[in-house]
Amino acid sequence: MPSSGIHVVVLAAGQGTRMKSRLPKVLHPLAGRPLIEHVLKTAEAISPSTVTLIVGHAADAVRTSIGNRPNLDFVVQEPQLGTAHALQQAETRLAGREGTVVLLSGDVPLLTSATLRRLIEAHEGADAAATVVTAIVERPYGYGRIVRTKGRIARIVEERDASPEVRQVREINGGIYAFDLPPLFDALRGIASQNAQGEYYLTDLIAIYRRRKLPVETLVVDNPAEIRGINSRTELAEVSRIVRQTKNEELMAAGVTIIDPATTYIDADVEVGADTVIHPGVSIEGQSRIGAACEIQSHVRIVGSEIADRSIIHNFCLIIGSRIAEGASVGPFAHLRPETVVGEGAKIGTFVELKKTTLGPGSKANHLAYLGDATIGARVNVGAGTITCNYDGTHKHPTVIEDGAFIGSDTQLIAPVRVGKGAYVAAGSSITEDVPAGALGIARGRQTNIDGWVERKKPPVERKKEKARARD
Ligand code: UD1
Ligand code: CA
Repeated sequence: MPSSGIHVVVLAAGQGTRMKSRLPKVLHPLAGRPLIEHVLKTAEAISPSTVTLIVGHAADAVRTSIGNRPNLDFVVQEPQLGTAHALQQAETRLAGREGTVVLLSGDVPLLTSATLRRLIEAHEGADAAATVVTAIVERPYGYGRIVRTKGRIARIVEERDASPEVRQVREINGGIYAFDLPPLFDALRGIASQNAQGEYYLTDLIAIYRRRKLPVETLVVDNPAEIRGINSRTELAEVSRIVRQTKNEELMAAGVTIIDPATTYIDADVEVGADTVIHPGVSIEGQSRIGAACEIQSHVRIVGSEIADRSIIHNFCLIIGSRIAEGASVGPFAHLRPETVVGEGAKIGTFVELKKTTLGPGSKANHLAYLGDATIGARVNVGAGTITCNYDGTHKHPTVIEDGAFIGSDTQLIAPVRVGKGAYVAAGSSITEDVPAGALGIARGRQTNIDGWVERKKPPVERKKEKARARD
């Protein structure tokens, strides 16, 4: 395939009115990535010589989200007068070039690069001036319909402009096309805006080509899901379900056990190793990486985190922006906040919250603790009810606990503070000063036992009654 002559244009200037959103449609996330990212990834996979993205509505937000990429240029369409008008904006960038324009829509995210390659092959093989990607569907409502005469495509009619007969047609326009560059921009100038929406429809180009005797072909895709467009929140949810299902199937094929795929939500960019078992109701989001032979129990949510091989995450944990080393155990009901690092074989138990904290290899915080801004060494035991008091109302302060230290239950470590290597902290202490290595830190009121106190406390009547009972 001569990839040097392929120029991709992506239409993404529309507001997406039907989404009823302040966020531009193409930035709505689908499986953890903005819609437009799915489209650009597909485009980049065919190594085009240029990519032009037509932006308009909320152009700055779209630009910022996408950032700089090789061969990608943004062109602004202002105002947005329809899909033909949008493509016209690419003329200055593509004028004088030869080759094929591949037109993609920013709101059609499931298209595969394999289909794009087939489109280019079919288009160049047939020496067509235009090739339209179509599909035969059960529910064509909302899409442009392909009208054929003697089997050949004659024109495309939009839903709103279609007669009852045309609305019966089940072959739809996918909004994805290949165009031979030389005749394209001149023909676009022939499009008028006399239609239900008063817009310049790119779809009118087909009838113009036919009149000019330019050859138009179609590529009918086998899997209509590939060209599903997203115009509403319902369509977004439906397409999300398809992406999720595909992702789960890929992972299962690669050796991951997913007990209930219907309730497992794994974003597109997530990686999971073989022999890992994922229980029902789990969400794994963003750029998360789960190793091999892990167990992720029910109702766990993992966002942008790394979990190494053979770790187990018990029920109901929330893990965000954290790294967990091999063979660690977390939960149930643990909350790992950003910048948490859990060492090899370490153990975090029930109702434990960590924030910006490193827990060294083999260390344990088994029950009810808050560890924030802390650096905890290897083989440390953090007792139940331990709290790092890291915030003085204005600033955050660090706590350091060195290797092998033992923190007794119900300890408050008032930061900044350091507990040295192998030191002990007595249960119930409020530690305000460093505890040297090997020392015992004890900071609590001394216990006094008052003999006979209970007896003396009793009211005289009660005492009399007791004496009487004793005589009987
Ligand atoms: C379009 C097609 C329809 C096809 C469907 C497939 C037209 C007239 N209709 O309809 O035949 O079945 O896609 O999904 O082309 N856009 C701009 N500038 C504009 C208008 C739109 O950049 O002025 C962009 C939008 O951001 C969107 C894409 O073009 O990414 C398609 O626009 P949309 O309004 O969603 O068209 P549909 O009604 O879905
Ligand atoms: Ca659309």
